[in-house]
Amino acid sequence: MNFFISDKLPTFEQFANLHEASGLIKSKKGNYTREQLYQAANNSWYHISIYDQDQLIAFGRMISDGIYQALICDVMVDPTYQKQGLGKQIVEELITKCKNSGIHSIQLFSAKGKQHFYKKLGFEERELDAPGMSLIL
Ligand SMILES: CC(C)(COP(=O)(O)OP(=O)(O)OC[C@H]1O[C@@H](n2cnc3c(N)ncnc32)[C@H](O)[C@@H]1OP(=O)(O)O)[C@@H](O)C(=O)NCCC(=O)NCCS
Repeated sequence: MNFFISDKLPTFEQFANLHEASGLIKSKKGNYTREQLYQAANNSWYHISIYDQDQLIAFGRMISDGIYQALICDVMVDPTYQKQGLGKQIVEELITKCKNSGIHSIQLFSAKGKQHFYKKLGFEERELDAPGMSLIL
């Protein structure tokens, strides 16, 4: 297959279509508009996209201080293209970006049922007495 990878921002339409198709938009629970989600992608420290011709089929992004911490967000693959290694490729590209930037600590919040996807890529759950924590406002 003739896919190509790019660190340029997709168009709003490409991004919104993938958000919808992957179902990731549901996890935002209607709290943000599509425009805000696109703005969030644009404000990322780094994002990476895979295309089949002009269709965005996989995407992932990170927010970071650029020195020692990075948080992976919004990894999504179009269902038609899932289970072909594209999600793995996206996360590996994000890890490579961190390695090349000297960042040794990468965090993420796994969606329900996706933790084994990340475990296969080397991520580990934090220790029970040092859990990740969040405050939902
Ligand atoms: C999670 C997601 C990104 C995975 O993308 P994908 O392209 O299908 O994954 P890959 O084909 O690269 O899978 C890589 C490996 O992880 C495994 N894997 C993928 N999804 C998995 C899951 N939900 N549970 C367990 N293993 C999984 C694959 O079997 C594969 O294993 P292998 O290397 O031994 O063959 C995709 O299902 C998706 O976009 N889901 C909807 C959005 C979402 O929930 N994103 C996660 C937000 S935290």
